[in-house]
Order: sequence, then C-alpha cells, then structure tokens
Amino acid sequence: MSFPVNAVRADFPVLQREVNGLPLAYLDSAASAQKPNQVIDAEADFFRHGYAAVHRGIHTLSAEATQRMENVRLLAATFLNARSPEELVFVRGTTEGINLVANSWGNTQVHAGDNVIITAMEHHANIVPWQMLCERVGAELRVIPLNQDGTLQLETLPTLLDERTRLLAITHVSNVLGTENPVAEMTRLAHQYGAKVLLDGAQAVMHHAIDVQALDCDFYVFSGHKLYGPTGIGVLYVKEEILQDMPPWQGGGSMIATVSLTQGTTYAKAPWRFEAGTPNTGGIIGLGAAIDYVSKLGLEAIGEYEQTLMHYALNALAEVPDLTLYGPAQRKGAIAFNLGKHHAYDVGSFLDNYGIAVRTGHHCAMPLMAFYGVPAMCRASLVMYNTEEEVDRLVAGLKRIHQLLG
Ligand SMILES: Cc1ncc(COP(=O)(O)O)c(C=O)c1O
Repeated sequence: MSFPVNAVRADFPVLQREVNGLPLAYLDSAASAQKPNQVIDAEADFFRHGYAAVHRGIHTLSAEATQRMENVRLLAATFLNARSPEELVFVRGTTEGINLVANSWGNTQVHAGDNVIITAMEHHANIVPWQMLCERVGAELRVIPLNQDGTLQLETLPTLLDERTRLLAITHVSNVLGTENPVAEMTRLAHQYGAKVLLDGAQAVMHHAIDVQALDCDFYVFSGHKLYGPTGIGVLYVKEEILQDMPPWQGGGSMIATVSLTQGTTYAKAPWRFEAGTPNTGGIIGLGAAIDYVSKLGLEAIGEYEQTLMHYALNALAEVPDLTLYGPAQRKGAIAFNLGKHHAYDVGSFLDNYGIAVRTGHHCAMPLMAFYGVPAMCRASLVMYNTEEEVDRLVAGLKRIHQLLG
C-alpha cells in the first residue's frame, strides 16, 4: 500500500496556508516539525476539560491528569522499547536531557584524568554540556573526526577509547548532513572499554523505530517538537540500574520523599527524582498524541516513504548548477547545500519569496561548518508530509536563483 501522504497532509492545518502568495513548502522540519490536529486537539482538550496539577491532589481532575501523564510515560517506553516506563524522565527537550546527564551522572562518574568522546558532527547541545563537564572536573574531551563525505572516521574510535573513557556521546542522525551513524556497533565497542553511551536521538526518532534494548545504549534522548509534538517536552531514557544510582540535579517539589529543616531531605525514587517542579503536563499529553500518530502510521511505512522522497530529491538536485551538497549518499531527513558562493541567508531569503521554508545558518553545529570551511549552509529537510512536488519547487527555485544571481 502506498503511503497516504495526502491524508497525512490534511491532518496538518498549517500546511494548507500560503506564504508570499504561494502554497507553503515547509522544508524545515528538522528544526521543528509541524503539528497534526490530533496533537493540537489532544492538548486543547486537556486544557479545556481535564487540566489540573499532577501528583499533588486527591481530587478527580488531579488524579486523572496524573494517570494521563503516567500513561504517556508508558507509551513512550513502548515507543523506545525500554524495559520499564520508570527508565524514562520527562525533560524539556534533548538539550535539557543531555544537561541532566552531564550534571547528575557526569558530576559523579567523570573525574580528573577521565575522558569523554563526542564526534565532530554534533549539535551544540551534545558538545557544550560535555565541554562544561570536562572543564568542571578536569577531564578531556576527545573528538571522532569526519571524512569529507560527512561520515565518521570510525577507524579512529579504537584509538580514542581507553580505560579512562567514561562516556561516548554521539548523535544517532546528524541534524545537518543526515548521516546515520552506526550507533549499535559504536556502542558495543565503547562498552568493551567500560564506557557508557549516550545517543542523541533528536533527528532519529521520526525516521525509524528505535529499540533502546537492541541498541544497548545507556542513555537515549529526544525532543517532542521534532516528532510532531509540542515544544518544551522531551524524553530521556536511562538504563534502570544507572538511573537508580544517579543523584538529583534540580531540587524542589515533586522530587522529594521527605523534607525537614533539621534532618535534611530524602528523595523520591527515579524517574520522579529528576522531575522537580510542576511538569509540562499539556506538553506531555501532546507528546502522547504525537507518538500515537506516528505509531498508527507505522515508523516503517514513514521511513520507506521518506527514503523514496530523499532519493527523488537527491536525483533532482543533481540538475541544479553550482550546487554543493554536503553529506553522504545515504542519509536521513536532511539535505545541506550551498549555491555557488552565495551566502545561505541570501539563498534562503529567495526561497522564502517562493513560499519555500528552508533552514539557513550554522545549524547549531559550528565545528561542522568549520570542517567544511563555510560560515553557513542551507538545509532542506524532508519528512513524512513532504512531497515530490515540493522537491520540484525547491529545484526550480534554486535554478531561478542561480539564473538571477549567477
Ligand atoms: C541532533 C540534535 N541534537 C539536539 C538538538 C537540540 O534539541 P532541542 O533544541 O529540542 O533541545 C537538536 C535540535 O535541533 C538536534 O537536531
């Protein structure tokens, strides 16, 4: 059966609008994806009919809201194939999840003389928290370099790993190049040295099913807003035995067992120990609806459709004169490019005039820009609601810009 792209598009109200007098071609989902009615309605319905603070009351609405929040934890656990929902912490997004690991696990497990390994293609969210941790404790940050085609120089990993490696923190899929890293294999290797592994799944969870048990990673993190869910909500998976030993990183309500001014504080068990304060309950409900939405379509069907579209796009873009593409032939979701010597901002502004939304800039990956020797790139991302017609418009737009600007 072919993928029901028209029915999917009909679920996303914003895709029906025009920009600069033309139908919107939204090719910026890797930055943040649009939301289907199912997500918008679930969140609105919760605020209209079911809203209350969770964990704090015995009244009906509070109990219902608490149950709904915990149901989403269970749903997210199934989505990632975690062993238990208690391995999942609700966070604001990937950035907060990584900072939680760096500050809680990192502060206690990474010491002076240890090292943490990342890659040269990481988003700043998976660089800066590790730089800060290494500076704090006197550890060394090591970097897996890239090949020119945007794949990792995997042969360097065994030379970077040693008995002082505490963590390998890598992106599952690059937000700029779309490179899918061989994370299961890298995890196996890191574990041989006793290192833990964190996978940044921000650009992976929307393209294929994730199985944290099969990957055997220790930490997996993603953001709801790139999975067609709301902003301000994400999920951090941590293997249960690791999570149980991690100290809290933020103190406050909901994360305690008892608080005494004379005897100090005892903490709630994980994962609630890591969820201080009133949570983003509306966001959690919306995330649940988003997970439901993609699960009903099927991640496999979504992935197949996106791969066909990506293949079509790479072929079509080959006809654009003076276009430099960055990244490997096999990629997920993202196509980064520059047109001639023109700044990405200029190209992006022209495309916007044609109703086409692409990302321009350093994509929160300045070290990657430095590797390619450019200040910025354009990035078109392709997801389940994009079409060949939108790709054709991108190609036509780029050809026109080339004619106009030379
Ligand atoms: C690979 C990757 N990691 C981390 C992030 C940060 O995600 P958030 O801003 O939702 O915390 C992003 C967002 O662009 C990303 O693409």
